[in-house]
Amino acid sequence: MIEIKDISLATNNQVEKSYSKLNSLEHRKRFAQFFTPFQLASLMADWLFGNQTIQTVLEPAFGLGVFSRALLNKKSDLSIKGFDIDEKIFAVAKEIFNDTPNVDLHLKDYMFNDWDNKYDGIICNPPYFKFHDYDNKTILNEIENRLKIKLNGFTNLYTLFLLKSIYQLKPNGRLAYIIPSEFLNSDYGKLVKSALKQNKVLRHIVVFDFEENVFDDALTTACILLCSNDKHSQKVKFSTIKKIDDLELIKSYISNYPLNNIDDSTFDINELQPEVKWRKYYQEQNGIRYKNLIPFSSVAKVVRGIATGANEYFTFSKSKAKQYGIDEKYLLPCICKAVDVKDNFFTTDNFHSLVNSDRQTFLLNAIGSKDENVLRYLELGEKSGIDKKYLTACRTPWYSLENRPPSPIWVSVFNRSGLKFIRNEANISNLTTFHCVYPVQNSLFDNLNVDVLFAYLLTDVAREIFEDNRREYGNGLQKFEPNDLNKAMMLDLTLLSKKTENKIIELYKKYRDTALNKSPDDSFLTEINNILKNKYC
Ligand SMILES: C[S@@+](CC[C@H](N)C(=O)[O-])C[C@H]1O[C@@H](n2cnc3c(N)ncnc32)[C@H](O)[C@@H]1O
Repeated sequence: MIEIKDISLATNNQVEKSYSKLNSLEHRKRFAQFFTPFQLASLMADWLFGNQTIQTVLEPAFGLGVFSRALLNKKSDLSIKGFDIDEKIFAVAKEIFNDTPNVDLHLKDYMFNDWDNKYDGIICNPPYFKFHDYDNKTILNEIENRLKIKLNGFTNLYTLFLLKSIYQLKPNGRLAYIIPSEFLNSDYGKLVKSALKQNKVLRHIVVFDFEENVFDDALTTACILLCSNDKHSQKVKFSTIKKIDDLELIKSYISNYPLNNIDDSTFDINELQPEVKWRKYYQEQNGIRYKNLIPFSSVAKVVRGIATGANEYFTFSKSKAKQYGIDEKYLLPCICKAVDVKDNFFTTDNFHSLVNSDRQTFLLNAIGSKDENVLRYLELGEKSGIDKKYLTACRTPWYSLENRPPSPIWVSVFNRSGLKFIRNEANISNLTTFHCVYPVQNSLFDNLNVDVLFAYLLTDVAREIFEDNRREYGNGLQKFEPNDLNKAMMLDLTLLSKKTENKIIELYKKYRDTALNKSPDDSFLTEINNILKNKYC
């Protein structure tokens, strides 16, 4: 039992800590119960008080009411309404706010309730659910009907909470939301960004980029949105918070609003482009340090690797092939796991040694086969329901493979240390652990030697410029979807003289030799990097 004598004095996260101790991580994850540090809740509450006549406040994802505690600590006569869908946390919240009649709590789904009410202040740390975790059809219908906007299915619940809350703001109402910063730089965020632009309520985006882990892991990639339904709609400010002291800057922005200095990080609302990554408004772009950049897509196309829909069934090792009597001609050589590729070069020898160590190195390629053993294995697939899986059910026949010729270059999808490119010298296929990189043929750049391109991809310059287009996940994980790379920029290598190109190829071959001898000498790559820096910086 969590006891609180005076709610306005609960100015820390003690109740959240006790709750987290008493309730399993599994339960908390199920309801996305990750709590806001009191210090941030208090800062966000300050923003709401910028509305001098604030009376009514909404807390759409109440949890244990950290925002209400922060608000009541500053003004005790507010009238607050809160929603939560989890009975467990709701019961604890009820107890905590038992003696606070001006906090009105509802055990209900925020997305389906309270559409007709509007508030002077709305403050929230919404649940973060990808859509497959959530009843997406109904919720999207609800939002589309109410807000008269068209959403694509690929979204996240927190963005829908935000859109609904903006709709529920009274004139002069203030809104503060703390959410993952992912939407700023992802495809599903475009719609939200465009709604924020159209509604003209966005005033300040505070992006966390903590050098050390100041708060919880989840906050390493969060942002706070400050919105106001007033007439000062022309300017939007972006701030990056690298250390806790930087929060003072936000406090001063809040207390000076709307009389803030216009600086490099303040943009005219009309300048903001919803369809591009908003990172460019708050982070110095690496690309601007170089001249003669061209879109990567004009040189190569990136597509994801083969998705089978049932890897266990479709992948084969040598011994599994023997066990089921599947002849090699019905097996497609394929790299199935990222760990099987250690270096930047993947050769035929590497492939054979994986085969001999009995790794999964083949995909069933059964189209047109009349072979008895193959037919028996397909029957087994049907008996086990493999043909009814999400991807296989959409294919004709269900066991057909996606048509992806082996690509000469692979790139790793999810990485802690940045992008990793691999030269697929073995000319084999790959599953989705890598994206395929196909150099563009018959284009202006068709003379771009694949070795020169690959040498470039191994350099820090390439990595830096690509990073402008990355997505970030908690824990410093970076991810690049194929389109993030397609839309990224690169140096225009066609401007290199024949002599420089030859020099790069020479260095690249030396690097390759050392890499194949298991002692890669990075000094060759550094030299290539320096050549490029000299030419393009
Ligand atoms: C990220 S937590 C935030 C809790 C608290 N406001 C804080 O900041 O510490 C989100 C809360 O929303 C609740 N929740 C999840 N889905 C909800 C929904 N559809 N409607 C209302 N609350 C919901 C969860 O149970 C959880 O308590």
